[in-house]
Amino acid sequence: MAGVLVPPPPATQHGHVSIFERVPKMIELRHVGKVFPGPAGGTAALVDVTLAFEPGRFVALVGKSGSGKSTLLNLVAGIDRPTTGDVLVAGRAVHRLDESALAAWRGRHVGVVFQFFQLLPTLTVLENVMLPMDLCGTRRGADARRHAAALLESMGIADQAAKLPAELSGGQQQRAAIARALANDPPLLVADEPTGNLDSHTARLVVDLLVALARQGKTVLMVTHERDVGARADRVVTMADGRVVADTRSPAAAPPAAPATGPHGRAAEHRHAGLQ
Ligand SMILES: Nc1ncnc2c1ncn2[C@@H]1O[C@H](COP(=O)(O)OP(=O)(O)O)[C@@H](O)[C@H]1O
Ligand SMILES: [Mg+2]
Repeated sequence: MAGVLVPPPPATQHGHVSIFERVPKMIELRHVGKVFPGPAGGTAALVDVTLAFEPGRFVALVGKSGSGKSTLLNLVAGIDRPTTGDVLVAGRAVHRLDESALAAWRGRHVGVVFQFFQLLPTLTVLENVMLPMDLCGTRRGADARRHAAALLESMGIADQAAKLPAELSGGQQQRAAIARALANDPPLLVADEPTGNLDSHTARLVVDLLVALARQGKTVLMVTHERDVGARADRVVTMADGRVVADTRSPAAAPPAAPATGPHGRAAEHRHAGLQ
């Protein structure tokens, strides 16, 4: 991501303008197919999916159960591999990495948020957030502790740091899980129905956090059933039977993150602050 130059897209009602083609892509799927083996040839979970996402966008992935949303997200996150086609994240062909390279890549480049939070039950909330730093060797000891505390603070749950996950509400657990996903400052966040287990008020707060992260320059890809999320997303991709059947960009979508001064840049935040 460092040094990626992203010109703002022109104001347009339709979005199909040539300048988009020159915007560097955060995610590219090229003719991606995914077949899960099974009887009668298995299940075609994805069929010839070609999609690209610019950095700094909040993208909602919608569609009926079984339409291939989670499969697509897992390919982007390097959790699973395509049967055919290419998956590129920040220009890297993740499907070609071997297991250990993939794990190392994932730890630094992708934050994953799940419907059921998936915090480790025997670790405190703070320790859960420190874990990815430890696993990737990005920060250690007091440094890791300080950074985890700062992330919990930014999620509004600093006072929950010493508790075990089970002592937190669902919304607090999901905020802790987002803090964990941000531990190594990945450019990409993927979230699979992160609000599916939350009441509507808490769900809105969690979406607000994800939108804010996109405004700070993260690329956020979120699978959701929430009806009103489409209105808040920069782009809504609809899937059916393993194919993309609709792809709408919000006319009011904020431009992608501005050229960064640092890895995922402060300049972008300031620029957006003036545009909100
Ligand atoms: N690990 C798997 N093994 C076999 N079939 C799977 C597996 N994961 C998903 N599928 C099938 O692939 C299709 C798409 O699933 P999925 O991506 O989970 O859909 P969604 O997230 O939109 O509900 C479904 O038919 C599902 O049953
Ligand atoms: Mg799913």
